[in-house]
Amino acid sequence: MPVAPQPEYKSAPQPEGGADGLFMSSSARGLLRRWSVFIAVTVIALVSLLLSFTSHQAWLIVFCVLFPLVLVGIFDVTQSEHSLLRNYPVIGSVRWIFEAMRPYLRQYLMEDDQSERPYNREDRSIIYARAKNEEDRQPFGTELDTYAAEYEWMTHSLAPAPVAHEPFRVTVGGSACAKPYSASVLNVSAMSFGSLGRNAIEALNLGAKTAGCYHDTGEGGLSPYHRIHGGDIVWELGSGYFGARNRDGTFSPERFAERATDPQVKMVEIKLSQGAKPGHGGVLPAAKVTPEIAEIRGIPLGEDCISPSRHSAFSTPAQMMEFVAQLRELSGGKPVGIKLCVGHPSEVFALAKAMVKTGIQPDFVVVDGAEGGTGAAPHELADHLGMPLREGLILMRNALVGTGLRQNVRLAASGKVTSGFSMAANMAIGADWCNAARAFMFSLGCVMSMRCHTGTCPTGVTTNDPHLQRGLVVDEKAERVASFHRHTVHALAELIAAAGLEHPGDLLPHHVWHRVSPIEVKALDRIYTFLEAGSLLDAPDETPYAAEWHAADADSFAPRQTVGPRRAA
Ligand SMILES: Cc1cc2nc3c(=O)[nH]c(=O)nc-3n(C[C@H](O)[C@H](O)[C@H](O)COP(=O)(O)O)c2cc1C
Ligand code: SF4
Repeated sequence: MPVAPQPEYKSAPQPEGGADGLFMSSSARGLLRRWSVFIAVTVIALVSLLLSFTSHQAWLIVFCVLFPLVLVGIFDVTQSEHSLLRNYPVIGSVRWIFEAMRPYLRQYLMEDDQSERPYNREDRSIIYARAKNEEDRQPFGTELDTYAAEYEWMTHSLAPAPVAHEPFRVTVGGSACAKPYSASVLNVSAMSFGSLGRNAIEALNLGAKTAGCYHDTGEGGLSPYHRIHGGDIVWELGSGYFGARNRDGTFSPERFAERATDPQVKMVEIKLSQGAKPGHGGVLPAAKVTPEIAEIRGIPLGEDCISPSRHSAFSTPAQMMEFVAQLRELSGGKPVGIKLCVGHPSEVFALAKAMVKTGIQPDFVVVDGAEGGTGAAPHELADHLGMPLREGLILMRNALVGTGLRQNVRLAASGKVTSGFSMAANMAIGADWCNAARAFMFSLGCVMSMRCHTGTCPTGVTTNDPHLQRGLVVDEKAERVASFHRHTVHALAELIAAAGLEHPGDLLPHHVWHRVSPIEVKALDRIYTFLEAGSLLDAPDETPYAAEWHAADADSFAPRQTVGPRRAA
């Protein structure tokens, strides 16, 4: 067989000295240009050292200033990790300085009030003002473009109701609960000790106590800092069962009962997933497992602490309901709920079917939106996994209403709740209350520098470094947490009154309108489907969820049948 001729590869010709210049090659001139700052700094440093001996000692100051830069330059040209620094010694570091300063420059100098992400300046300013008990009124008129897509508003009444002065409450826990809980309509969402520093946890708990709302522990366990001030606690149990586990990481009924019966614990929440990183477990490396964290979580010192991506206490929706009943009994009859970000819709219907089949329902379900926050998450999971809050909440509402269970199960929502209006919009589509995480972080002083995962939080919120935490004074910030809560709930009360209603529970989807195009607006009930009570049991095929409903199985999280078209063979 004839062999095809192989192409001949040659190295690129190397420039030779003196070929295209009178005294110097172009590459040498390029090198001189790139190293000019380094060379200039070195020459001036040497000259100033010389002058300090021969002329005036003041030149020594110049040398002392420049000498560290000479060392930086030597380091830059000899290191092999960063090509930019090898090629542009000294001056190349400026890029890193600007890179590090970019978020601050953007935030303080470039961005307008509406354009920042994930929270714009206007949203943050309102939170800061309310937290500091400062004037939060708007002069002149709205800065929002009321003709832009996504603009939303609430409809008001020509016969407004009086503004409620008593804070709104929601009773959680039905006949199966010996100790129902009266919840505020705005609460502190789950954030663990470890993810937040001890001062932040203390300030949130003391703030929650003053505000009369609950403080969710997050999945990292119930720490002394959650308990020191005595604010109402919702104890979250993630797949690691921290504080309620055996040595092998499985659930320990005895350890759970010991803590869950503490009167400060008002409710228990089983965490299935969170919007910022659904379907993801976690590892706390052995090096970060301090004796304190080991004690709080009930884990061994010197070993990696693993949070698996799924629970070991149950493997089907029906078993999960049995687990809910077990926790309720072990806690002495406290409300037990679940928290999840909606993923496969058929799984939501599987949960509803399991509630019907077992006759056991959780006392509440918290729906977290994909827009939710976290201490740290892989980019793809944060950006492209999980259902945004509005769609997830409506789906969960429809599963409960469609199976006739809504009366027994309270519904809560979390995902960028910052204001009375964001609460009202969630409540109009079915939420009984809202939880907020990052808004309460702002009230603690968070400046959105987005370094939460580095342990170097400049405001002491998401760090365990005692020097940085010094900046976060517990009593001062607790007052801000309570103040933000009070003003936001009052803003909700004003909206409710303007709509002629008495309680946020009276809000309905038609009370919120949405601009779908520059020339078209619709009430939410004309955009989304809201099922009638019992419709999934009576006539599932007449709902838009027929395929997902038939695929759902109370005895398996996996669907019974494929939803939608199959892959081509
Ligand atoms: C720093 C941080 C830590 C969090 N830790 C937990 C956690 O341990 N468990 C959990 O269920 N959610 C956790 N979350 C998610 C929040 O509880 C909340 O569901 C989500 O951030 C949406 O609320 P937000 O948009 O008001 O921040 C965390 C969020 C943040 C910002
Ligand atoms: S200030 Fe920055 S690092 Fe600290 S909590 Fe806020 S976003 Fe995270």
